[in-house]
Amino acid sequence: MAPHDREAVRRICWETGYGGDNIAPYFDDPALFTDFFCSYYTDIEPGSSFVATDGDAVVGYLFGCPDTRRYNRVFYSKIIPSILGRALRGRYRIGRKTRRYIGGMIGPFLLGGYRTPPLDLYPAHLHINIMASYRRAGLGHRLMESYFEHLRTRGVKGLHLSTSSLHATALPFYNKLGFQLYSKSKHRTGKEQITSLIYVKTLE
Ligand SMILES: CC(C)(COP(=O)(O)OP(=O)(O)OC[C@H]1O[C@@H](n2cnc3c(N)ncnc32)[C@H](O)[C@@H]1OP(=O)(O)O)[C@@H](O)C(=O)NCCC(=O)NCCS
Repeated sequence: MAPHDREAVRRICWETGYGGDNIAPYFDDPALFTDFFCSYYTDIEPGSSFVATDGDAVVGYLFGCPDTRRYNRVFYSKIIPSILGRALRGRYRIGRKTRRYIGGMIGPFLLGGYRTPPLDLYPAHLHINIMASYRRAGLGHRLMESYFEHLRTRGVKGLHLSTSSLHATALPFYNKLGFQLYSKSKHRTGKEQITSLIYVKTLE
C-alpha cells in the first residue's frame, strides 16, 4: 500500500465497517472510527498492506501486520494516546451511537471475549474489506495470496484474524483460503447477540 492510498482505504473502512455495510448508522464520526482501525496500517507499517484497484480507484484493501506483538506495543503506546488526546481536545464527534458502539466493544474485552491465539505460532494478523460492487470477483483471494507471499518471504509461519457472525460472506471465504476456527465466543451488543470468531492459518 502506498502513502497516497491512505484516504481511499479509510473511506472503504468506514463504508464497509459494519459486517461489510456502512457503519454510519452505528457510529458518529468517520475520523474517530478510521483513526482507531486504520492508523497502524496506513501510518506505521503500510508496506505490509495491499490494495485492490480498478484503474486508478482503490476498491478494497488488506491491512496486514507480520508481528502482532509490535502492533500491540505501537497501538497502546502511540495510537491510543494520540486518539485520546484528540478526543480530549474535542476533535471528534462522540454522540450516543459512538458511546453505544464503544460500550459494545469494551464488554467482551473485559469478559475475555477477544482471545488472542498463541503469537509464537500465529504472529501475523490481517483485516480485509472489498467494496460491495467488487465482491466475489477474486480480488479478496488475490489480496490474501499477496499477503501470504509477503509473510513467507519474511519467514512468518502463521497468522490469525478476528471476525464475527456479522460477516456472513467472510466465513466461507476464510474457509476456502484454508483458515481454521480457533475460538468462538458469544456476546451481546445492545439488542444483538454476536458471535466473535478467531481463525488461524499455518503457512506452508
Ligand atoms: C469477505 C471478502 C473480503 C471476500 O472477498 P471477495 O473478493 O468477495 O472474495 P473472492 O471473490 O476472492 O472469493 C474467493 C472464494 O471465497 C469464497 N467466497 C467469497 N465470498 C463468498 C460468499 N459471499 N459466499 C460464499 N462463498 C464466498 C468462494 O469460495 C470464493 O471462490 P469462488 O468465487 O471461486 O467460489 C469480501 O466479500 C468483503 O469484503 N466482504 C465484506 C466485508 C467483510 O466481511 N470483511 C471481512 C471482515 S472480518
